[in-house]
Formats: sequence, structure tokens, C-alpha cells
Amino acid sequence: MDAVQQKIEAAREALRFVSSGMSLGLGTGSTAKEFVTLVGDALKRGELRDIRCTCTSNQTEEQARSLNIPLFALAEIAPLDLAIDGADEIDAQLRLIKGRGGALLREKIVEQQAKRFIVIADESKIVIRLGVGVLPIEVTPFALDVLHARFTSMGLNPVLRLRDGQPRITDEGHRILDVLLPAQTDIADVVAEIRQLAGVVETGFFPTEASEALIATPNGVRRMTR
Ligand code: A5P
Repeated sequence: MDAVQQKIEAAREALRFVSSGMSLGLGTGSTAKEFVTLVGDALKRGELRDIRCTCTSNQTEEQARSLNIPLFALAEIAPLDLAIDGADEIDAQLRLIKGRGGALLREKIVEQQAKRFIVIADESKIVIRLGVGVLPIEVTPFALDVLHARFTSMGLNPVLRLRDGQPRITDEGHRILDVLLPAQTDIADVVAEIRQLAGVVETGFFPTEASEALIATPNGVRRMTR
């Protein structure tokens, strides 16, 4: 089973946790996209009814609208019964790195409003130690250059996220600096230091948000719980 098929399998398993009448947070990224497609199909077939959804990005909103999924502002339906989203890295404690798709801020806002947040992923996302890849940091445009310099002095090798050769502008109008955690540092310590700095809006470290994860493997979907 390839990674795409694994994402579909994880999304299919997650759909089993959705029932009619629920309020739902829809994630962002290629795995969440498979889930949103399945929700749209289930509504169309009448297998799901009266669900109320909110999105973690403009991108997901566009997809959900195209599938006639009923959408609401977060405040209208919070607290959410359930949120479903992908992740970039997942450790054994169900701590996550998210945001390589650029939606970390809205994702964290929505997922903190959910009574239950299920992560869906293929097994490539499981890591021994978070920080194998970059940690996205969302920053205000005004602070971008000084924070870039500060992260450099902290040894974090910041790189400004680009799209089509221009700085990537998030749905909330911010920029993203992707940093690399130096070996032997604890992500929680680094994030605590970063969050002290004015202009840092949010980081892609999700230490406690996920309630469980559905990890697709060639041998089926494995469930991780806290
Ligand atoms: C979006 O900003 C991210 O947090 C995604 O949820 C994460 O990058 C996982 O995306 P994929 O499912 O495409 O790997």
C-alpha cells in the first residue's frame, strides 16, 4: 500500500467516528483532504445528516464548499464534538509537529476547541523524536526580520517560507519561519523560549491537543491513544 492509499485508509477509519448531528473541525493537508472528500460523499449518499463543520484553512473551506458540506464560523458551533486533521510528525506521547502546509494557527485554534481531536496519518509520520524536519513558526510581518536574526542566534537556522518565490502569507496575514531544532535540544524547551518573543504568533508544536491518532500501515490502521 503506498502513502496515498494509507492516507485514504486513515481517513476512512476516522469517518467511523463521525455521526449525524455532530459539529466537526476539518483539517488541512493531503490527508485531511481525503477525509473531507469522504465526508462530502457520506453527506451526498445520505449516510450522514445535519453535521455542522468549520475549517482550519481557506483551502479546506474551498474544498468543503465544493462538496456542499455545511459550514459555520467556529464560534457558532464551538465546542466541537470532533476535529480530524493530519500531522507532519507524531511521537509516542502523541505530541505533534504541524504546519508544514501553512495552516498551523487556525488548526491549533480549531483543535483546541474540539472535545476530541483525532490525528490521521500514514506511518511515515511516526518519529522517535520530534524535530526530524522543520518546526514552522508563524510570525507577524513587522517582526519577521528581527525574529529571523534572533532564531539564527539561537542556532535554529530559520528559513522564510516561500510560495511562488514570494513570502508565504498565511490565512491570518502572517509569515512563516521554518526552524530546525539543534540535536540534543528538547522541543518543549525551545518552544517555551520562542514563545517569549513578541511577534511570534504560534508554533507548529502541538503538545497536548491530540486525543488519539489513526495511523495507516500496510497491515491496517493502528490506533494510538493517550
Ligand atoms: C497543515 O498546515 C498541516 O498541519 C498538515 O496537517 C500537515 O502538514 C499534514 O499534511 P499532510 O497530510 O499533507 O502530510
